[in-house]
Amino acid sequence: MLAKVKSFALVGLDGVPVEVEADINRGMTSYELVGLPDAAVKESRERINSAIRNSRMHFPVNRITVNLAPADIRKEGSHYDLPIAIAILKASEQLIGAQTDGVVMLGELALDGTIRPVSGVLPALISAKKRGFTRFIIPFANANEAAYIEGIEVFALKSLTEAVAFLTGAENFEPVAIRSFSAVQKAARYGTDMSLVKGQVIAKRALEIAVAGGHNILLSGPPGAGKTMLARCMPTIMPDLTFEEALEVTQIHSIAGDLSEEGIISLRPFRTPHHTATTVSLCGGGNARIRPGEISKAHKGVLFLDELPEYSRSALESLRQPLEDKVITVTRAGGAVTFPADFMLCASMNPCPCGNYGSATRECTCTPAQIRRYRAKISGPLLDRIDLQVEVDSVSYDELASEEGGESSAEIKKRVERARAIQRERFGGPMTNANMGEKEIKKFCSLSPQCEEILRGAFERLSLSARARSRIIKVARTIADLDFSAEIKPEHVLEATSYRNFDTKER
Ligand SMILES: Nc1ncnc2c1ncn2[C@@H]1O[C@H](COP(=O)(O)OP(=O)(O)OP(=O)(O)O)[C@@H](O)[C@H]1O
Ligand SMILES: [Mg+2]
Ligand SMILES: [Zn+2]
Repeated sequence: MLAKVKSFALVGLDGVPVEVEADINRGMTSYELVGLPDAAVKESRERINSAIRNSRMHFPVNRITVNLAPADIRKEGSHYDLPIAIAILKASEQLIGAQTDGVVMLGELALDGTIRPVSGVLPALISAKKRGFTRFIIPFANANEAAYIEGIEVFALKSLTEAVAFLTGAENFEPVAIRSFSAVQKAARYGTDMSLVKGQVIAKRALEIAVAGGHNILLSGPPGAGKTMLARCMPTIMPDLTFEEALEVTQIHSIAGDLSEEGIISLRPFRTPHHTATTVSLCGGGNARIRPGEISKAHKGVLFLDELPEYSRSALESLRQPLEDKVITVTRAGGAVTFPADFMLCASMNPCPCGNYGSATRECTCTPAQIRRYRAKISGPLLDRIDLQVEVDSVSYDELASEEGGESSAEIKKRVERARAIQRERFGGPMTNANMGEKEIKKFCSLSPQCEEILRGAFERLSLSARARSRIIKVARTIADLDFSAEIKPEHVLEATSYRNFDTKER
């Protein structure tokens, strides 16, 4: 007899319905699995066999053919165990009266019949809902991922026995209850706050400008100056994630399999890949199943590259395209997969190999040639995508010892949100000043003769490179927005020229 059951395959964040067909014929005992299964799916036979027998049902001793259709999509992961087992039970007439039509099933089986958690449940649910599916069986341990999607009924079950009882109607189960995203978000807290950073007025201001205009930022300063501490504060002054954004971020982490208890990510991610990170771990990939990389896990949040010159050239090079496109496409033998990668980049570095160059209190022991070589490691195309380059010096003892921390992240965030609203209106969508091309710069950033004069002066005095010009103008636009000023004023240009540590031609 032939039986069919529904499951889903994931291609990036995109889910595609998969029909799991089991056909059982008299004949020599055999088990054949067709339809482009990967290694994990091929291994399913032993798990399914044991799971069925240990659930006090029979694994048929006949000729079994299992087909996963459509055949042109690679079937990856272990979540086909449950639908295959159900299809086999149905085809061998052990599920009399079971209602499997339209029920989408995902789950790995343990040998004892337990349904184990799988990755990618959230994107599968979202895609399946879009395609009109409304009933699901998922692993009990993945229940939280189903708690924020309305309009579907999701049954989070513990074992194959429960799945059979559910499908045959022998037992009643409650669907996963809907939870409120805003309540979860309200309760969530970042581990840090701007008010904990003493002094560093200039660096904090630069971070506010960066976040307001979506500008990437480089913090340069001696060891212990507080660069890492400042960077960690960046997400705390970004606007709250909307529910849609949170779902997008959560889907990526669902595939990566690193979701926490809440089942939804309500705070902006802050990712800190080590400088030894490979291109695959940064951008995504993998032999079996393609996993999102750090830049996708940082989607809608911050990617922090600590000690920028230590990263390999190829790793830094691989960031250029996603910084431009806000997505990353990973190619491999079986085709290409695209993941979102819309992150803000924050990088840090010491100003020289010894770390003390430019310090007011400590002496640099490096030769000019050493300093040049060190800085040259990050020169070029990546630096072109970083609009703000800020020097961070150590704070004094008195500042550290003082009780005053200055403004809280919540206060700064309010100003950021206002500046973002101005940009939304300007561009008629969620674009930020940092993404302006030459056309937009011309349209939205006209400079008075006085502003031009300041810019020209800075160019000559600081011997700035050509590419520094549009960078300064974009930053000036954001500073004007933070100032509620429709026109860019001389003081905005002046401040913008001060964030240009690495733009000099000598580099
Ligand atoms: N402005 C500050 N206010 C309060 N504490 C600070 C400040 N700056 C530094 N600290 C303290 O010093 C510690 C070291 O700072 P942090 O790790 O951010 O420095 P860093 O510039 O990243 O140094 P490195 O170059 O060694 O990575 C922090 O954990 C914090 O406790
Ligand atoms: Mg650090
Ligand atoms: Zn030095």
